[in-house]
Amino acid sequence: MATAGQVIRCKAAVAWEPRRPLTVEEVDVAPPKAHEVRVQVVSSGVCHTDVEYLYEAEKGMSFRPFPLVLGHESAGIVESVGPEVTKFCPGDHVIPLFLPYCGECERCRSVKTNLCRKNWANTQAGVLADGTSRISFKGKQIFQFLGISSFCQYTVVPETSLAKIRRDAPLDKVCLLGCGVSTGYGAAVKTAKVEEGSTCAVFGLGAVGLAAVMGCKAAKAKRIIGVDINPDKFEKARLFGATDCINPTDHRKPLHEVLAEMTCGGVDYALECVGSPTVMSEALESTTEDGGTCVIAGWTETEKMDVQVLKILMGRTLKGTYFGGWKSVVEVPQLVDEYMNQNLKLDEFITHNLPLDQINVAFDLLRNGKSIRTVIGLQDPQEEKL
Ligand SMILES: NC(=O)c1ccc[n+]([C@@H]2O[C@H](COP(=O)([O-])OP(=O)(O)OC[C@H]3O[C@@H](n4cnc5c(N)ncnc54)[C@H](O)[C@@H]3O)[C@@H](O)[C@H]2O)c1
Ligand SMILES: [Zn+2]
Ligand SMILES: [Zn+2]
Repeated sequence: MATAGQVIRCKAAVAWEPRRPLTVEEVDVAPPKAHEVRVQVVSSGVCHTDVEYLYEAEKGMSFRPFPLVLGHESAGIVESVGPEVTKFCPGDHVIPLFLPYCGECERCRSVKTNLCRKNWANTQAGVLADGTSRISFKGKQIFQFLGISSFCQYTVVPETSLAKIRRDAPLDKVCLLGCGVSTGYGAAVKTAKVEEGSTCAVFGLGAVGLAAVMGCKAAKAKRIIGVDINPDKFEKARLFGATDCINPTDHRKPLHEVLAEMTCGGVDYALECVGSPTVMSEALESTTEDGGTCVIAGWTETEKMDVQVLKILMGRTLKGTYFGGWKSVVEVPQLVDEYMNQNLKLDEFITHNLPLDQINVAFDLLRNGKSIRTVIGLQDPQEEKL
């Protein structure tokens, strides 16, 4: 590539401070250092987590350093690789990952967890292994959200935070496997391990929840109850496999009582895909005491949930899921194959496609419950040249 080894000046949507809309700026993206890869970002979904870190910092999120380039659900093409990178070449199609997989540490070798800690602390703090970010604006460092920053035309990520995928997969669709769809689908099939013939309830029918519904259906659950306070989400939930849809605001009773009546005692699996401690408690209580499982996918960092000990004593299981339990580098390419073999839906999650300069519209659509996923096109058509 003509740009290899050079600083690339390109467009990025910068979050200068919490609760202020993003502004599109010309930033500089430095070449990759050892064990890093520079990626031309082609497409990026806007996930609720991006919205939460910008607008909901006071509602349970830990502080992230600003200025920051958000975006963590993307797909792109390798532009150049840093020294000692052996697994990637320019031109490779890739999905950047906020959850690394080094393949060597104790956690990567364990079947119990997907929480590889390679570069974990630094990427969570918005920088790469040397303690700095590769993105800057007029010489000032801009932090990289989760070590990714996909609302930038180019970004640099650790080689252990990148999945190589087949070239025939459309990047403007498979970007969704970088976060929301993988998380919800995995919450059902991998973390909950939903069984054939079981009864499930999915709380929150955004992209994560719809993907959880899709996972319950793939696992051949006989009943899948979608729960959302926004009834506009129900039509799509049925398309993904929900057999019933409930709006909690239509009922006077607590939702777990409504679900207990509907299912003769509670659901086998409840999947929380909202990020609200109150909903998490409801989800746990709506599982059946004889072995029900509640999986929390919704995100909150500083809040606590209320759990009546008796509910657990009776035999329920409460679990959380991070990135759907997938071993990211290895299993994301398999999910891409599932999509290409038409065993996994992705297109149906995409309600809007917008260019980078309309990214605030995408944030507003998600905040107002008007979109499932907006996919941001990062490259001007004539610039997609790699
Ligand atoms: N665990 C992980 O690794 C991981 C990964 C990605 C996203 N997340 C989290 O998953 C959650 C969902 O993300 P998303 O992108 O699908 O968000 P989204 O905003 O698209 O969907 C959330 C849905 O929850 C519904 N909702 C809100 N309050 C509700 C209530 N009280 N009862 C029922 N439904 C309610 C909303 O109407 C909306 O449809 C977020 O908290 C996000 O941060 C977690
Ligand atoms: Zn996300
Ligand atoms: Zn590891």
